[in-house]
Amino acid sequence: MRVGVLTGGGDCPGLNAVVRGIVSARDPDTEIFGFMNGWQGTLDGEYVHLTDEDVEGIHILGGTILGTSRTNPFKKEADTRKMFDTLAKLKIDALIAIGGDDTLSVAAKMTAYHFPVVGVPKTIDNDVSQTDYTFGFHTAVNVGADAIDRLHSTAKSHKRVFYVELMGREAGWIALEAGMAAGAHLIVIPEYPMTMDEILRMVDSRMKRGGYAIVAVAEGFKPVDLDNTIQDDSQIDAFGHIQLGGIANYLKKITKEKLGYDTRSVILGHLLRGGTPTAFDRILGSRYGVQAMELIKKKDFGRMVALKGNEIVSVPIEYAVATKKLVPYEYYKMCSLFFG
Ligand code: F6P
Repeated sequence: MRVGVLTGGGDCPGLNAVVRGIVSARDPDTEIFGFMNGWQGTLDGEYVHLTDEDVEGIHILGGTILGTSRTNPFKKEADTRKMFDTLAKLKIDALIAIGGDDTLSVAAKMTAYHFPVVGVPKTIDNDVSQTDYTFGFHTAVNVGADAIDRLHSTAKSHKRVFYVELMGREAGWIALEAGMAAGAHLIVIPEYPMTMDEILRMVDSRMKRGGYAIVAVAEGFKPVDLDNTIQDDSQIDAFGHIQLGGIANYLKKITKEKLGYDTRSVILGHLLRGGTPTAFDRILGSRYGVQAMELIKKKDFGRMVALKGNEIVSVPIEYAVATKKLVPYEYYKMCSLFFG
């Protein structure tokens, strides 16, 4: 059997653990073709054969040994044709797509074309539905929490307000959990809009009570009275996403203007995604990889591996891409008990 593997979208700690899991769980007569740079590798016919030697010890490495991109092979008909031609030419029997909802939405479309695909949910944002966790999220939360921990002493010494911006395009999981773990005094996320006045009121009251304030903010958050989310630049990717970034700077500016406090912003951005995965993400990635290969062996295609409780299960890919997994209101409300 010939199985293709690719990693698409933003890189994420734990990707290499998945690749290693896939290779380790294959039958001896199965060949693994690692397509380079996400779906782009299927357009260019660029791949590497993956053997046990190639994947030895890679589960502890960040990034992806296969490279990645935000290529969408269904954007242009010519690209779709190129992709299917490559897969036919190499006689690929099935493909494992490791990615977030963009990559998985491509996988879901391939299922509609009757191409045998299995999906593995990846994103530090943790917003893929039908799974309790995506790998990479745990690492991002740890990095975020460590950064916020460190800001407490300097914020307190200078009696400052700090806005710490964490990734999270539509879902605020990283900001919420990193902020919660490190004792941020306020956490603002896209799911639960607030007005600028509400934010300022909470910051002011925290400053009066505690002498310094740390606000964790998800990059996709915008105060309800602001027209658009803050963009880093006008670039739009192949899946139609704008590049976010800068909300912490905006909040800093308004806070300085309206409240006069000495205020700073810190944008954690890609730091959350880089470096070695936590033990949790190494293990989750490995389990996902093994289960993806088990689905291939059983010819159980069109499915995505998922974590439910402590069990690795599988669900139809199209269910997973139908909605985003947002932070439930009850959870946000519980975390807000610690604000102030
Ligand atoms: O999709 C995950 C993510 O980390 C988002 O939180 C963020 O907006 C985006 O990737 C950034 O992607 P890029 O690497 O293209 O800047």
